[in-house]
Amino acid sequence: MQIFDIPVVNEKLTNLTKEELVSEVIRLKKELNAVLLVHYYQESEIQELADYIGDSLQLAQAAEKTDADVIVFAGVHFMAETAKILNPEKLVLLPDLKAGCSLAEGCPAELLEKFKNKYPQHILISYINCTAGVKAISDIICTSSNALKIINQLPNEQKIIFAPDKNLGKYLIKMTGRDMVLWQGSCIVHETFSFKKLTRLKLEHPDAKIIAHPECEENVLDISDFIGSTSALLKFIGEDSSKEYIVVTEPGIINQMIKKQPEKIFISAPPESACSCNECPYMKLNTLEKLYLCMKDKNPRIEMEESLRKKALIPIKKMLEMS
Ligand code: 13P
Ligand code: SF4
Repeated sequence: MQIFDIPVVNEKLTNLTKEELVSEVIRLKKELNAVLLVHYYQESEIQELADYIGDSLQLAQAAEKTDADVIVFAGVHFMAETAKILNPEKLVLLPDLKAGCSLAEGCPAELLEKFKNKYPQHILISYINCTAGVKAISDIICTSSNALKIINQLPNEQKIIFAPDKNLGKYLIKMTGRDMVLWQGSCIVHETFSFKKLTRLKLEHPDAKIIAHPECEENVLDISDFIGSTSALLKFIGEDSSKEYIVVTEPGIINQMIKKQPEKIFISAPPESACSCNECPYMKLNTLEKLYLCMKDKNPRIEMEESLRKKALIPIKKMLEMS
């Protein structure tokens, strides 16, 4: 298992201007026959360069289908690792290998295996925010956009362990009425939203709808008007008639919301303390400079033992079939 430190600062790494970096990334995409997959939580300047921008399911599906020689993943480690599991012959680049995820770090495969062994009648469904080691011991992978659909396809009597996100797990228990055993992990970004500040904000903006990611804590989800994955939130604001929204997820997605509905108002939900900890520190480790450098150097790249990859592929394929 790989443990990542929580990132701190991004130093300047090249003498290129922003315009030069942008044109170099575009040039290198052609030279390498590369596809650039970008998650909604990335900086807007990286979002602008994307060939595909999406949630973790959409990006895994794009990785499965691509005929590019190189996949450049502007997201976090587990997302790039999933792309590599699906494409062993392709070069998969990640601008910063330290771009991890607190959910993946908080669920070591060896410990999850011990936990799983206590429940021999249960199958293990793991949220895609986990390491390849965890995927390798899982029966099915899911994301926040397909978890309900996947669980609803399983027979009622099937017992389930859900890992690693306890908040998404609790939400799924509520929505499906099933009794699942939960691994007690959480996202450091989504658990930082302040219930107190959120209720105050709602009083100041009574017409605004609260829209939240299911990684948020139960008290936040209980007062939300809509709950969904990043792509579901984006779809919702496009179809809903309200003019104002309080967005309870990483604010990187607001860039796409404004693009989609420029006349609407999007308010980023506040964290507990006066900090910017509602921004994912892992996602924000990827910068335009690092994106350029990883394409120029063809490094850092995702590597993995073939035996581990083959085991991790089985539950990912199952997810893609059931989605
Ligand atoms: P989505 O699949 O909804 O994009 O979520 C990914 C994630 O890491 C949320 O914190
Ligand atoms: Fe992981 Fe949370 Fe960052 Fe998503 S926002 S990548 S769940 S730490």
